[in-house]
Amino acid sequence: MADLSTRVGSVRLACAVLTASGTAGVGDELAAYGELDGLGAVVVKSLAAFAWPGNPAPRLATWGASMVNAVGLSGPGVAAWRADGLTRLRRRGATVVASIWGRTVAEFEAAAAGLAGAEVVAVEVNASCPNLEGRREIFAHSPEATAAVVEAAGAAGLPRWAKLSPNTPDLVEVAGAALAAGAEALVLVNTVLGMVIDVEARRPALGHGGGGLSGGAIAPIALRAVYDCREAFPEAAIVGVGGIATGEDAVAMAMAGADALEVGTATFADPRAPFRVRDELDRWLDDHGVASLGEIVGVAHGDG
Ligand SMILES: Cc1cc2nc3c(=O)[nH]c(=O)nc-3n(C[C@H](O)[C@H](O)[C@H](O)COP(=O)(O)O)c2cc1C
Repeated sequence: MADLSTRVGSVRLACAVLTASGTAGVGDELAAYGELDGLGAVVVKSLAAFAWPGNPAPRLATWGASMVNAVGLSGPGVAAWRADGLTRLRRRGATVVASIWGRTVAEFEAAAAGLAGAEVVAVEVNASCPNLEGRREIFAHSPEATAAVVEAAGAAGLPRWAKLSPNTPDLVEVAGAALAAGAEALVLVNTVLGMVIDVEARRPALGHGGGGLSGGAIAPIALRAVYDCREAFPEAAIVGVGGIATGEDAVAMAMAGADALEVGTATFADPRAPFRVRDELDRWLDDHGVASLGEIVGVAHGDG
C-alpha cells in the first residue's frame, strides 16, 4: 500500500482522493458505494446562505463519455445542511469540505458566516458563478471579484480553498489574486462553458440553454490549468479536478502539480468511482515502486 496522505494548505488529509462538488450530493449519498471515511474528504455541492431551487429541467445532457450540466446550484442552504447533510456525513466519519456560492460578495459572506463553528475542515469558495453586481460576469473571471469573495469567505473562520474557472485567459492572474486574498489552496478547475443541441427539437438540449462541460473531454484543460498554476506558484497547494476517471488520470494530475484530486463526473457513470480511483492510484504507485503520492507531485515540471 502506497502512502496516499497529503496536505492541502494547513489541512492534513489521510487520502488525496476527494469527491468533486456537485457530484456526490450534499450528505452521505455515496455511503452505499464505499466507506466515506476512506476518502480524503467529501466536498459537498455548493451551498448558499439560502435554499435555492436551481434551473429548469432538463439539467444534464451527455456528450460521449462527458456531459454538459446546468443544474443551477440547487440546494438546501447552509443552515438546513448543517442540521441534516453535515450531520449524516459526520455520523459516517467523513471528513467534510463545504463548498459555498453566492450572487454577491455579501451572499458569499453570509454563506461563510453560516459555517462558523461547523465540523468541516475547509471551505471551498466556488467563485465560478455569476456576479450580479458585475454584469453577471463570473466572479472567477476577474482577479478583483475573486479576491473579494475569497476575503468574504473568511467569515467562516476556516481554511479557504478557491475553486476557479478555466474559462478565462487570466487564470494565473486570478489564482494569484485568490492566494493573495487568503486562499490556502487553488481548486482547478470548474466546468468549461458548453452546450448541446437537440437537433430534433431544434433547440439547446438543456432547459437553461448553455451549461458546463465536464468529464474526460476537459481533462487536458484541467491538466494545463494545474500545470500553469504550479509553475507560477510553486509553494501553493493545488487540488486538481477535471476528467479524472481512473487511477492513471489521477497520476497525471498529480504529476502536473496537484497535491490532491477530486473525482466528479465519473461518479455519475459509476458511483464507486472515487473509491476505485483511490484504489487504482494506490496500485499504480505500488506497481511503479513509488512509496508515496508526494513523490510524484509536480514531477512533470522536472528539468526535462
Ligand atoms: C452535475 C454537476 C454539478 C456540479 N455542481 C457544482 C457545484 O455545485 N459547485 C462546484 O464548485 N462545482 C460543481 N460542479 C463542477 C465539478 O465539481 C467539477 O469541477 C467539474 O465537473 C470538473 O470535474 P469532472 O470532470 O471530474 O466532473 C458540478 C459538476 C457537475 C457535473
